[in-house]
Amino acid sequence: MEQTPVKKQRILSGIQPTGTPTLGNYIGAMRNWKLLEDEYDCLYMIADLHTITVRQEPAKLRAQSMQLLALLLAIGLDPEKNVLFFQSHVPQHAQMSWVLNCFTYMGEMSRMTQFKDKSAKHADNINCGLFTYPVLMASDILLYQANLVPVGQDQTQHLEICRDIAARVNGLYGNVFTIPEGYYSKVGTRVRSLQDPKRKMSKSDPEDCFISILDTPDAIRRKYRRAVTDSEAEIRYDPENKPGVSNLLSILSALTAEPIDALTASMAGKGYGDLKSTVAEATVETLAPIQARFAQYMNDKAYLESVYRRGAEQAGRLAERTLQKCMKKIGFVAR
Ligand code: TYM
Repeated sequence: MEQTPVKKQRILSGIQPTGTPTLGNYIGAMRNWKLLEDEYDCLYMIADLHTITVRQEPAKLRAQSMQLLALLLAIGLDPEKNVLFFQSHVPQHAQMSWVLNCFTYMGEMSRMTQFKDKSAKHADNINCGLFTYPVLMASDILLYQANLVPVGQDQTQHLEICRDIAARVNGLYGNVFTIPEGYYSKVGTRVRSLQDPKRKMSKSDPEDCFISILDTPDAIRRKYRRAVTDSEAEIRYDPENKPGVSNLLSILSALTAEPIDALTASMAGKGYGDLKSTVAEATVETLAPIQARFAQYMNDKAYLESVYRRGAEQAGRLAERTLQKCMKKIGFVAR
């Protein structure tokens, strides 16, 4: 007897095309995306609209957007199973964002940590987009009625506000949006800077602070060699007192799938130099095949174009359905 197929849960996530993704982006988010493609109905978006909250150089933004698409394919995301698209190709994101802006309070936005951080960093350009960024992100998620959103820990606050906005609209107009849940991996949801391990690894920091997915083996080894540790000599996991060493252990654990306890046991009596070279080799080994595939995809512009065109069509259809539903409930005359 034929069984009715169970409807898969929907996943949406995104990444900004600013610079090359870091090992933090990879461990905290991207590689989990690949693990989800069979079990869920997945959409992964290159969040290009989000990037202009900070000034971008046009040619660079365009090039980095295409590179990011090639990288998503290079980490193994299958465009037959996942919808891969550029956010700016689906205008419903901007439309939904206007609507949701009107259901979001100034006070909520001013409490966002990222707004406070970024407005301190770019004091000469505190634009309205930077302020309402979480509303655009909420629109990204709610347009697709996503059940789950796989992200790193730094996005928790944005996800919370998205849930609040969705619940608020549902409370006023009935069942408009699915309330999404965050989806976090067990290890590596917050990979830290190699130079300042109290902070997250971020591509907007100086070069030595992060490993980029496209770094050469030499650069990777050099950056780990220079990574900040502490003045003890014991390899022990203690994020509070030994953030540098603990960060290296978490990265190693994420890359090798070995639990941290097992790693510290196997490294007992060894020095920080050994730990650094072990993490470096694990990183090189993980990234080498990705880099090779990346180079191949970058040589096939026609294929990349076919992927993003189809992605925009598929995403657009889903997004339009939710946008129409939401606008109708609010009281706009149907077109
Ligand atoms: P972005 O581009 O800053 O980062 C992409 C993903 O990488 C994760 N991440 C990290 N994880 C662990 N350790 C780190 N050091 C680290 N740095 C970054 C982020 O948590 C994220 O999952 N606003 C988002 C993009 C976005 C989005 C969305 C995400 C736009 N719309 C809708 C999900 C759903 C951002 O700037 O991510």
